[in-house]
Amino acid sequence: MGAIFDGFKYQDHILCSDGIRLEEIADKVGTPAYIYLSSLMTRAYQDLDVALKDIPHLICYAVKANPNLAVIKTFAQLGSGADIVSGGELFRALDSEIPSDKIIFSGVGKTKEEIEVAIRKKILCFNIESEQELITVDLIAKSFKRIVDVTLRINPDVDPKTHPYIATGLRKSKFGIPYRKALDLVRSALRLKNVRLVGLSCHIGSQITQTKPFEDSLNRMLKLFDQISKLKHELLYLNMGGGLGVTYSHEKPPSLSDWAQSFLSEIKDRKFKLILEPGRSLVANAGVLLTKVLYVKRGESNNFIIVDAGMNDLVRPALYDAFHSILPVKYKRYKKIKASVVGPCCESGDKLTNERRIQNFQPGDLLAVMSAGAYGSSMSSHYNSRTKIPEVIIHDQKFYTIRERETYEDLIAKEKLPPYLKRSVAATA
Ligand code: LLP
Repeated sequence: MGAIFDGFKYQDHILCSDGIRLEEIADKVGTPAYIYLSSLMTRAYQDLDVALKDIPHLICYAVKANPNLAVIKTFAQLGSGADIVSGGELFRALDSEIPSDKIIFSGVGKTKEEIEVAIRKKILCFNIESEQELITVDLIAKSFKRIVDVTLRINPDVDPKTHPYIATGLRKSKFGIPYRKALDLVRSALRLKNVRLVGLSCHIGSQITQTKPFEDSLNRMLKLFDQISKLKHELLYLNMGGGLGVTYSHEKPPSLSDWAQSFLSEIKDRKFKLILEPGRSLVANAGVLLTKVLYVKRGESNNFIIVDAGMNDLVRPALYDAFHSILPVKYKRYKKIKASVVGPCCESGDKLTNERRIQNFQPGDLLAVMSAGAYGSSMSSHYNSRTKIPEVIIHDQKFYTIRERETYEDLIAKEKLPPYLKRSVAATA
């Protein structure tokens, strides 16, 4: 019974990580709960950083993958910058002491207020997604009497061969500036007085498991770079985004250092700094969702293993039909049955697995939903008025709660009754 997932191994038939028995964490914080292993995050970051050591580069962790302060801070301490897409993510990145000159603001819908705060905080650059946004940033920069650095996010029209919901680099996508219009927008940017065009960027999608789409988009971006240098304008940065996939099941994506290699040969003689914005590949396999079996229901045509984690805790299977492996925390000789693992939410789509051959789990069994470190907690919701679950990090053979389980009071803390619906004393008693 060797390692199935790096960092999570059975010892004496109990799933452990860094010497900690996962059931010990369940005893302490209850279930469901997210558990992260800090050493895997650190190793992933360092693998990428070392692979890029021969060229000027900046890794900007994509905060959306897992925005817990302890996770961001783990990367901050390694020298990471941050890719952010909202004022909230900016707040988290700064709170985690990511230097503001290593923060890139991406996203198609930045508001005036978000742009103002980011200018005030002196971030590295805005990743501009449309002509109107470019003009807006220029105007706001003017009101601050500042010249603000921008990169243009180009949509290279490359098929990333991933789930359509997370493909962003195709022509029909809402993201980025169409490749054919890129030069026009470069010319507009060069005419504006309060923005300085410092680079180009692209991000073609997520969970990409081949190097070819990255190579294709790199070639297209380098072509644009050459056209821009003919305009006598030198760019400082090429940002190739994130998007590297991980193994959830049988996928064999390139490693982080192979990913880096796929850029290196083409750009090693160029003068710009390479920026990458990995999210999933730094955190997905460093996290599990711990959940407990509540009931097993044998239906007429389907069997259901009902657990205490639902789509509000981990929405990826419901939203993308995503596959996550499920391991028992205590290894036993289970019989296999055909069943789906489903949550308690009142929604037919509330599932952690589709129907598959799986161990005949029993009520009370603890299960680990693997590869849940990315886009798990960050996409969780309060649906069905379920409280957000705790997050725990394992570091150096100890574990720490990095987010408390919410209380019911937390759930209603921001709600107010209008005066005409007066609360009776009995309602709160
Ligand atoms: N940069 C930009 C501009 C992005 O939009 C994203 C992700 C990243 C970087 C990081 O990509 P990553 O390395 O994590 O693939 N919720 C989906 C994934 C959505 C990704 C959105 N953008 C999921 O659970 O699969």
